[in-house]
Parts: sequence; structure tokens; C-alpha cells
Amino acid sequence: MEPVDTTRAEENIDPQDWHAMRHLSHRMVDDMLDYLQGIREHPVWHPIPQADKDFLIQPLPLEPQPVEEVYAEFLEHILPNPMGNIHPRFWGWVIGTGSPTGVMAEMLAATMNPNMGGADHIANYVEKQVIEWLREIVGLPEGTSGLLVSGGSVANLVGLAVARSAKAGFDVRKEGLQCSNHCLTVYASVEAHSCIKKGVELLGIGSQSLRLIPVNDAYQIDLEALQIAVQADRAEGRQPIMVVGNAGTVNTGAIDDLRALADFCQREDLWFHVDGAIGGVAGSSPTLKLLFAGMERADSVAIDLHKWMYMPYEIGCAFVRDPQLHRNAFAETPEYLAHADRGLAGGTLWFSELGIQLSRGFRALKAWMMIKEQGVHKYGRMMEQNVAQVRYLTERVDREPELERIAPVQLNIVCFRYNPGGKDEESLNELNKELLIRLHESGVAVPSYTTLKGKYALRVANTNQRSRLEDFDILVDEILRLGRLLTQEMKAA
Ligand SMILES: Cc1ncc(COP(=O)(O)O)c(C=O)c1O
Repeated sequence: MEPVDTTRAEENIDPQDWHAMRHLSHRMVDDMLDYLQGIREHPVWHPIPQADKDFLIQPLPLEPQPVEEVYAEFLEHILPNPMGNIHPRFWGWVIGTGSPTGVMAEMLAATMNPNMGGADHIANYVEKQVIEWLREIVGLPEGTSGLLVSGGSVANLVGLAVARSAKAGFDVRKEGLQCSNHCLTVYASVEAHSCIKKGVELLGIGSQSLRLIPVNDAYQIDLEALQIAVQADRAEGRQPIMVVGNAGTVNTGAIDDLRALADFCQREDLWFHVDGAIGGVAGSSPTLKLLFAGMERADSVAIDLHKWMYMPYEIGCAFVRDPQLHRNAFAETPEYLAHADRGLAGGTLWFSELGIQLSRGFRALKAWMMIKEQGVHKYGRMMEQNVAQVRYLTERVDREPELERIAPVQLNIVCFRYNPGGKDEESLNELNKELLIRLHESGVAVPSYTTLKGKYALRVANTNQRSRLEDFDILVDEILRLGRLLTQEMKAA
């Protein structure tokens, strides 16, 4: 080996000029706060100009570029083309808005930049504290185990994985499912989010063994059909292991009868998991909490904080009632991660033993800061406000002769369509698809869509902390304007 050249100037990637970096950073903070403060004045969304797409096809940078220039490129090409979800009139899919404190917390967390896999440092205690607060909101008992994750999909995956280990009846981690003659079977309603199917597939259970149970007129799981499916599977020698209940479905916000599901799982010795990506945090409001009775009896619960707690992406939380079962599904402690009695490798908070990630970011800080800053009562009022706004919109939809609501409203989601009368289902679907695209392109508002019983619906899901009642009137006025215009265009064609 060549001897080390000790005369060579050593490099690092910190600023050469801290004063200039400080100046630029202050500008970034000012620019971003101005942007957030004025967001209402921007279009919600617009198509990305070709020049900005082209700008992002560049060769790999081999040499340095001043960060001031890179930031100027961000301002010119990236910032002006947002998804739109921080705007007060964005209600697409189930997407949150974030908050200024969340923005700053991300900066603080990245400055400390700890690895949250384990070891004895304060950031892990922040995560423990946040999990404890969230556990209380969800209503789970003390001693419940928790893990902050990237969002609802991973939180659900954690619940599914723990249920699989706990209920397989053999060492599924060691033996796997490949050579097993156990047909583990999972139950959820047809309205369950697609991440449940993905999770079941990923865990080797296979989507053929995910029974999607029909729903009633309120889009809640049909309990009788569930009972019949479990009995039939047992009679065939399959091994039912778990039921996934919905605390707010993605399509319509329907809440399964969680109490009945808890009773059923108890009777049938099945794991009870709740997908609370939407409604899991509604326990912040004493009135909304009542809708979710039974969730507190779940064996595992998935919640999301980047949706209805308005935190910046990404953050969700997985809870498992029995901490030992949680550990059993994931813990792996090789010699290089062994815990020490004292020193940095001491402490008891090794979150890497509760999920799939070893290295983890300090997402707990934004949750800690925002929950303290707002307080749970304010969060509860904000969620009630979102529900009341959707009720206001629903009442307006029901009053407008050209609008047709196509699903019951239980929470913060409403599905409806423009229907001027005299059109068959196919043309109504075409009309509403085109209407939605034009609405997005108008920059006025962004709802999303779904199809319910063959009907294409405009779908408003309100987890927006910036919306006001007037925004929903603007939405309806624009839908009516576009609907009338399109009807005329279709007649003329
Ligand atoms: C009911 C439900 N479950 C799970 C998810 C997935 O959550 P995430 O997008 O945070 O992974 C969503 C997302 O919208 C959802 O609405």
C-alpha cells in the first residue's frame, strides 16, 4: 500500500464561508415563510411547463456548483410547480398540509441528524414521549408498544407482520411460509386500502388469502359475511389469523363497527388490527372519538400524522398492544448492535428492533414540537372543523339540483358528481372525468376521484388545516360552471 500523503489538504463538505451560508439560510427561511403565508394567492396546481421538466434532465454533476446558484434553480424550476397539497383548496386523495413549525422542526432534526435505530441519546426519548402521547389519543392501554414509521402503509405492514408471527402457530420468521402447509388467511372489507393487499403480498401470505368482505350501504364491513367467510375457510382447513378494521376508509371515510369487530375477533381468537390512517387520531376530539369506539381494543393500530395531524411528510405510527409480540416479530440483535450496560450503546430504546428499518430519521421532533405547540384540544377542534366543513359542502351538494351525492358521509370525505339529468351512466362518467381534469387545470381546487358502484365520483377528503367554508363554495361554483360548459360542448359535438 502507498503511504498516506500527509501533506494533502483535507476536505469536508461544510461551508467554506459560514457567513455566506448563514446569509443564504436566512434568505431561505424568509422565502419559505413568505411562500407559506401567501399560499392562498397561488393556483392550487398547474401543469408543469416543459422547460421545467427539461431542466431536470441534466448530466451527473461532477464538479461543485455554488449553493446560492442551486437554490436559485430551486426557486425558478421546482418551487413554482408544487403538488398543491399545502393550498387551502386541496382535498385530493388523503393528503395533509404540513405547518410552518413542522418545516422548522425538520431543519432542527436534520441539524442534530441522529440515527434513531437505537443507542442512548435524547432523540430516542423524544420518540418514546411522542408515542406515549399518541397512544393516549388512540386510547390504547399503557404499556402498548409503538414505532414511528414513514406513514400508514408501513404502519399497517408492521401490524400485519406482528399478527402473522403471533398467530401463525409456528416460527414463521425462521421457517417462512414457503414450505408450510398453513394457509394463513386475512380478512378486511372491500373498502380496505390497497396497502393492506400490498402488505399481505409482501409477507408471503398472498393476496389470494386476503378475503375482501362485502360492505353494507354505509360502506362498513358486513359482519355476517365476515362470519360466514371465516367459518367457510376453517371448514376448508385454512387458518384465519386476523381481521383488519377500517377507522375511516379511503373512498368514503366509512368507519367499520369496530366494537363488533373487536367482539368477533375475541370470540374467534383472531388478531384485530385497525387501519386508522385517517381516523386513528380523531380521539383528539371527544365527539369524534365516539365514532371509533372499539379501536382501543385492537391488538394493533396504524395511524398517520402527515394526514389529519397536518405534519409534514413523512410520519405515521404503528402500535402493538403486546410489546413482546411486537419485538418477537422484528428483534434482531447481532454482535455489532448488542446493547451495553452503560455508554452510548446503553439504554433501552432500540427502535430498530420493532420494525424493518435500522437507520431511522428524527421524525419524532416535528411531532413533539407540533403536539406541544397546538395541544390536543386544538387538534380536536381542527378535526371537528374539517368534518363540519365537509358537512357544509354536503349540504350544498344536496341543495344543488345539478349535483348528486353518491355515498353517505360519516367523517371528512364526500363523494358526488355533476349530473344535469338525461344522461346515461357512461356519459356521466366521461363528463365527470373531464370535469375533474379541467378543475385541476383551472388551478381553482383539487379534489380527487373514485368509482363507487360503477359511478365515477368527485371526491373531497378534507385533512386541510387551511381551508375555510368559503373555499367549498368556490369549489362548488367552479364545478357548476365547468359542468354547464362541458354539457354545452358535448351537445355541440
Ligand atoms: C385508510 C388508509 N390507509 C392507509 C393509507 C396509506 O397511508 P400512507 O399514504 O401514509 O402510506 C391511506 C392513505 O391515504 C389511507 O387512506
